[in-house]
Amino acid sequence: MEYRPKLHITAKKGWINDPNGFTYYKGKYHLFAQHNPYDVKWDTMHWLHFTSEDLLDFKEEGIVLFPNENYEKDYGCFSGSAIVNGATLYLLYTGANENKQVQCLAASTDGINFVKSHFNPVISEFNLPDDFTSVDFRDPKILEKDGTFYVFIGARRKDRGVSILLYKTLDFRNYGFINEILRLDDLKNGMIECPDVFFVDKDKNEICLIYCPQFKEKVKNKFQNIHSTVYQTGIIDFENGILTHLSDVKELDYGFDFYATQTLQKDNKTYLIAWENMWDRNYPSRIENYVGQFTIVREIEVKDCCIYQSFISSIKNYYLDEYKLNNVLIKDEFKDEKLNDRNCRIEVEISSSSDYQISIEDDFDMVINTNNNSITISRNNMDEEIINKDLTDAKNRTIDIEEDLKNVKFDIIVDNSCIDILINDGKYSFSSTYFKKDGSKFKIRPINNSEVKIINLIKHTLGVKK
Ligand code: FRU
Repeated sequence: MEYRPKLHITAKKGWINDPNGFTYYKGKYHLFAQHNPYDVKWDTMHWLHFTSEDLLDFKEEGIVLFPNENYEKDYGCFSGSAIVNGATLYLLYTGANENKQVQCLAASTDGINFVKSHFNPVISEFNLPDDFTSVDFRDPKILEKDGTFYVFIGARRKDRGVSILLYKTLDFRNYGFINEILRLDDLKNGMIECPDVFFVDKDKNEICLIYCPQFKEKVKNKFQNIHSTVYQTGIIDFENGILTHLSDVKELDYGFDFYATQTLQKDNKTYLIAWENMWDRNYPSRIENYVGQFTIVREIEVKDCCIYQSFISSIKNYYLDEYKLNNVLIKDEFKDEKLNDRNCRIEVEISSSSDYQISIEDDFDMVINTNNNSITISRNNMDEEIINKDLTDAKNRTIDIEEDLKNVKFDIIVDNSCIDILINDGKYSFSSTYFKKDGSKFKIRPINNSEVKIINLIKHTLGVKK
């Protein structure tokens, strides 16, 4: 088996991190990736372009932004977003130099060729309030409301703290600073990266703000990745740049590999994609000449300030078969040859009054702790052990679940080295990599000789129909 997933986006060769510029233009979905074409490690960034018609089958189109201007020559074209206005597709991204980060514009009228603006940089230190530094000033997210375009950017204060700043533009050339809409003082030296915003209710200015606080400290079982992806909902007063009615900070995903989301809203639907990796560790897929993959696109919904995720519905077109089970009572261990598959989706509902373990891969396990409402995930015996630079655990973690776990619905996608799990209608999401070339075995094992029941299970092999 290869590590390279079939349905998760990867680059043909080289490195990718953050998804960028997720949009729909001229009959196709467009997505870009932070990319180093020359090696399987991060280095001066380019934007690699992908297009898709169904949000699953993405075609690699080539590099559209090269780091060839003075304002981006040290570190390249950093993350950003896209928006369509009239007949033009605009990309807003960060030009990154060692001592300065600025925001830049590129435009396309055919969805293939992109031209950088003569007015670049369009937002720079001259548009920053005095108490901010342009050393860390990046990842613009652009959003439209009533004909005005609003831009959310991560920024660093000169003294202490990091923030998201709000700007506006009418013509993509002149940008006015509105306000600091969110400030964090607890991140040691970390930045707020990749702010991402979508409307929960556009008429009421209700938004959901997703952002990535670097080095957010672990609080009990929360924020266990070195860098987190969190979200809050709130009401935004665009005029004054004030965000009120903020909900509590929630994590968007509890797996080992998830960072830097991009959302796209179209026809009353909201789509989300993220980098399915984490910074500051080793990347075993480099032996196959690629590093980095994106999650499968998910459709998301907000209910009671909480994001629910589901796998993109077009995945049904990639089903090669179907296998079903109902009412299976498990006393010792449940195994079934038909479920040992490195390219599949397994939807299973399980009831149990005591703890049990699901092994999705050989040693990729989930323990459902029904007694204390928590789930433990672990990934062991990989071909190459993943080690976090800060030596925190990259292999085991326990997550607290708000509700009772006596009856749980799992929706699992296994795509070679990617394992994505949604629980209870996508209220909880776990995205992880698991690097093991050989072997696959799906197992359910009651702990403490109790009884576990599969209420129903449906499995589809995933692949491209010939
Ligand atoms: C987040 C990030 C962004 C930056 C990009 C550089 O993963 O650090 O803040 O724009 O990656 O590749």
